[in-house]
Amino acid sequence: MLKYDSHQEFEGWEEFNTRPLGERLPLFSRNGRIFDILFSQQFDRAFLDVLYELTNRIRRIAKSREGTHWLHRLHSHQRAMLYFVQPSTRTFLSFQNACHILGFHTSEIRDPHTSSEIKGESPEDSIRTFSSYVDLIIMRHPEEGFAEKTAWVLNTSERPVPVINAGSGRDQHPTQALLDVYTLQRSFEDRGGIDGKVIAMVGDLKRGRTVRSLSYLMKNYDRVTLLYAAPPEFQIGDDIKQFLHTHGITFEERDSLDAVLEDADALYMTRIQDEHDVSGESQSHYERFSLKREHLHRMHPDAIIMHPLPRRGEIEVAIDKDPRAVYWRQERNGMWTRAALIATIFASEATIQTEGD
Ligand code: CP
Repeated sequence: MLKYDSHQEFEGWEEFNTRPLGERLPLFSRNGRIFDILFSQQFDRAFLDVLYELTNRIRRIAKSREGTHWLHRLHSHQRAMLYFVQPSTRTFLSFQNACHILGFHTSEIRDPHTSSEIKGESPEDSIRTFSSYVDLIIMRHPEEGFAEKTAWVLNTSERPVPVINAGSGRDQHPTQALLDVYTLQRSFEDRGGIDGKVIAMVGDLKRGRTVRSLSYLMKNYDRVTLLYAAPPEFQIGDDIKQFLHTHGITFEERDSLDAVLEDADALYMTRIQDEHDVSGESQSHYERFSLKREHLHRMHPDAIIMHPLPRRGEIEVAIDKDPRAVYWRQERNGMWTRAALIATIFASEATIQTEGD
């Protein structure tokens, strides 16, 4: 019998949602394991270290045909639902392929107009319907907090299934942060790891959720300095700054890409999210927050350039050939990291670590 790791009683979602995160998190773990993946704040260093070892292991096993078939048998009796009602290319595809690597059968809804939501069914009832058929729900939704609400609804139903947040409004993208940190760790493997590094996040930091989730994860590493380079009106949120203060993480705000180029061990470029503009207010910022070939000589020779993608003009395409550009590798890392995460939720990590050769 699965048990919540919460000893508290909650009256309902409205009341639960007023509680501080520390009180809410236990509802999303069971038997000492994370059950729902909703926030970057759920992950500690021990969890990350085990996850990334498992990620490496799955990558290695999947190199051979026999290994691929072995992995595929692990969860071939289980099913996952991808509910992506906000646009996505790589998160959707990497989760779908991560599921397939582990043998999960997948089904999907990408457009609520093709579901019974169009007849007036609430998204909450739609989610309960998915849980009637599948063992895992992976969701991207435009509404902040909707993934958590879904997990609440299912955890208080008679058929709880794990929920993974694959992007929730402007709030969080925790699995992107997991793959970002995996990429940082691999890139700095021969340079002492992530500890002590300077990570510059550049672009629209107010409306981008990847930088928020990545910032939270930095509490797990020592002596990291975060440089936030953004136009003043699109700087990182006060809630993130408060979190960094609380966890003693050094950070600075700067107002241009130019101002962080020479200091960064990792330059994390992001897209200006002008889909949220009311009257084109971000257009004047594209140029000052775009990385061009002429900038490269000012960067450390062993710095890395990351981007959660998709990109537009913020990294010149010719930079793809520079050995410091790791964003295509970062993108592919998403599939392996997500496979390891799903294996962890379904407790197959010990089997993968000890068998499969
Ligand atoms: N990085 C990311 O979330 O990309 P998609 O929107 O294509 O999934």
